[in-house]
Amino acid sequence: MQRVRYYWDYLGLDEVLAAQRLASSEDGGDPAHDELLFIVTHQAFELWFKQILWELDAVIGTLSQAPVDERDMGQVLHRLERINEIQPLLVQQFAVLETMTPLDFLDFRDQLIPASGFQSLQFRLIENRLGLDPAKRMKIQGSHYTSRLSREHAARVEASESEPTLLGALDAWLARTPFLRFGAFDFWAAYRDAVTTMIERDRQIVATNANLDEVSRQQQLDAFETTVETFATLFDRERWEQLRAQGRRRLSHEAFLAALLISLYRDEPAFHTPHRMLRTLVDLDIGFHAFRNAHAQLVHRTIGGRIGTGGTAGHEYLEAAARRHRVFTDLFDLATYSVPRDELPELPDDVRDQLRFRFQPS
Ligand code: HEM
Repeated sequence: MQRVRYYWDYLGLDEVLAAQRLASSEDGGDPAHDELLFIVTHQAFELWFKQILWELDAVIGTLSQAPVDERDMGQVLHRLERINEIQPLLVQQFAVLETMTPLDFLDFRDQLIPASGFQSLQFRLIENRLGLDPAKRMKIQGSHYTSRLSREHAARVEASESEPTLLGALDAWLARTPFLRFGAFDFWAAYRDAVTTMIERDRQIVATNANLDEVSRQQQLDAFETTVETFATLFDRERWEQLRAQGRRRLSHEAFLAALLISLYRDEPAFHTPHRMLRTLVDLDIGFHAFRNAHAQLVHRTIGGRIGTGGTAGHEYLEAAARRHRVFTDLFDLATYSVPRDELPELPDDVRDQLRFRFQPS
């Protein structure tokens, strides 16, 4: 027999709506008007964090199959796109909280110490599920980022550092791309020539650009040297792995080459979905970056140069974290190695043939 559901109970609204306990009125004092907004906003964030974790776990689960059934890729993309839709909502929620002025916040701020969003278990789990490099994490007054968490939460977060990540699952999926081998055709040599020609042409444009002063010209020419240098690591697995060990690259050599191939030959039908996947992950990274920046700005305007209730340098810590705590930076670098379509090496016929969709009309 089907249960009779009641809206209020189904949504657990007794529990949810009883969970806004104002610290300002705890000891019989007058409630600080804006504290309700402060709590509701944080709770709304945590609910969305829960949804994001739910989607991430599902995506990692699917991508971790070897091989991934291609029919599942639509769903993987759909779920990642859902996260990307949630992110602007989070940024917008900060705007609502910004209607609370610094003085309004001071009405109850001191009663929060030492609690801080720094202790958000779910946010740390999201970061680790994405694949944030633990070695890159900023310390807080010389201590580990879990040092402000309860023992139970710290244990969960630390355990999550060795659990499967989206970056790891992406790496394995890319590295399995069957199109990295081209038989007798030396694709990567042809591609290297195309990029070298392109870099030389760009270098000439800078060298002869009459609108540049000498200092800017030299800076730009130096930047070309860096591009040439990093480009060389693409073809040298050992150097690539050294960069990876230093945390300057995150994807394996195979995975990066596969991602590059996908982005260069995105017009080939078999690469449409993988290319969308790469773009979606770039959007995801941008979305989290936007979240971090919006939060840092909110903190700057609300507490100025004060330290946070969790004891960090406040907005300065948050701005530095926004710069450092990125995950899919390798995917942004693919653009550095793009060449115009008409200068790309032609793929051998048999490879191109494999990249087509096959449809046999009956
Ligand atoms: C007036 C509002 C807010 C202020 C003044 C504020 C302040 C801060 C400060 C100063 C930090 C750095 C740690 C510390 O020293 O405490 C921090 C971290 C954090 N806050 Fe907020 N916050 C506010 C609202 C929010 C909201 C609505 C969320 C949503 C959940 C949030 C989530 C976080 C997270 C996840 C961190 C850790 C960031 C990281 O380590 O990269 N904060 N907050």
